[in-house]
Amino acid sequence: MHIPVLLKEAIEALGVQPGGRYIDCTLGGGGHAAAILGQSSPGGQLLGIDADPKAIEIARARLEAYSESTLLINENFANLQAICIKYDFSPVHGILFDLGLSSFQLNDEERGFSFQHDAPLDMRLSPSPRVSAADIINTFPETELAHLIRTYGEERNSHQIARYIVQQRPIKTTLHLAHTIEQATGGRRGRIHPATRTFQALRIAVNQELEHLEAALKQAVSLLGIKGRLVVISYHSLEDRIVKQFMQREAKDCICPPGTLTCICGHKASLRLINKKVITPSPAEVQLNPRSRSAKLRAAECVITQDEPHDIAESLCFSAGVEANGWRRPALVEKLRRTFAAHQTNIF
Ligand SMILES: C[S@@+](CC[C@H](N)C(=O)[O-])C[C@H]1O[C@@H](n2cnc3c(N)ncnc32)[C@H](O)[C@@H]1O
Repeated sequence: MHIPVLLKEAIEALGVQPGGRYIDCTLGGGGHAAAILGQSSPGGQLLGIDADPKAIEIARARLEAYSESTLLINENFANLQAICIKYDFSPVHGILFDLGLSSFQLNDEERGFSFQHDAPLDMRLSPSPRVSAADIINTFPETELAHLIRTYGEERNSHQIARYIVQQRPIKTTLHLAHTIEQATGGRRGRIHPATRTFQALRIAVNQELEHLEAALKQAVSLLGIKGRLVVISYHSLEDRIVKQFMQREAKDCICPPGTLTCICGHKASLRLINKKVITPSPAEVQLNPRSRSAKLRAAECVITQDEPHDIAESLCFSAGVEANGWRRPALVEKLRRTFAAHQTNIF
């Protein structure tokens, strides 16, 4: 079982409402998705995305009762915009990212994500990355390996670890790597196993996690309707820094360097921060689900979209006098949008 993290907080931050349309970019076991579908019925719709084909299978079984209102796609969220165009799924009321790995992936003895089991050093979320963790460990020069472990694992002992790895090559399995790192660092001292940070670094590098997150966040904003919500749960400081900086930048009208006398950037805020302080799990949640301990939730609301007629059409469709459920709204929006365009109507 994968226990969804910050579930109540995520649903609240997304402002899930009946008839709404939502995207879960990290479907996993379908825990958050099930709650979104429950809360958005009747008439709610969900587009669920996961890079891992096995996650899609698990989620499909879990969400069977909602099969009429769900569309599950095995893709990387770095292609979010293209997916939404292909399946005509925008604008939406909310987009969720619950980053990292699910318990299904961590516990899968063949994937090599964890050093709790001996497994081949693979660590690919989907079959598409050409390079596995074993390729990196066994082919990178020592200095590059140290740099990768330092940058993506924020590991202070990166040089020592890289040196031991190079001496021990070839390293093909998780336990061989974990043992090598233990030797390099002089064994376990604190609560965290000395291999934790190196394993994180390898997973991030293999799956290009940070690049994909940056790309997806930018695309997500353009898919939100007025007051649509963007909610991101991250699990380590590198992810959280990207999310925090992105939301803070998008919540500003000007992003010129400090000291610039007149604005030259022309940047307009597209988001409003909902929770100025990051949301973290309660002690009770951490006790129940220790994997939640490092979780951080940030949320923001869309304040503009690129397309003004579209915004107006959408807000009309949501006004009290219009009886349109979640399925009919997109068609109505599109019709109004075309009418505006055809008549070049200037009603503003
Ligand atoms: C923490 S789990 C999500 C768990 C889910 N919220 C639940 O309640 O069951 C993260 C999921 O995101 C997926 N994932 C990570 N990076 C991804 C990416 N770039 N594109 C698509 N899916 C990704 C992983 O395969 C994993 O299944």
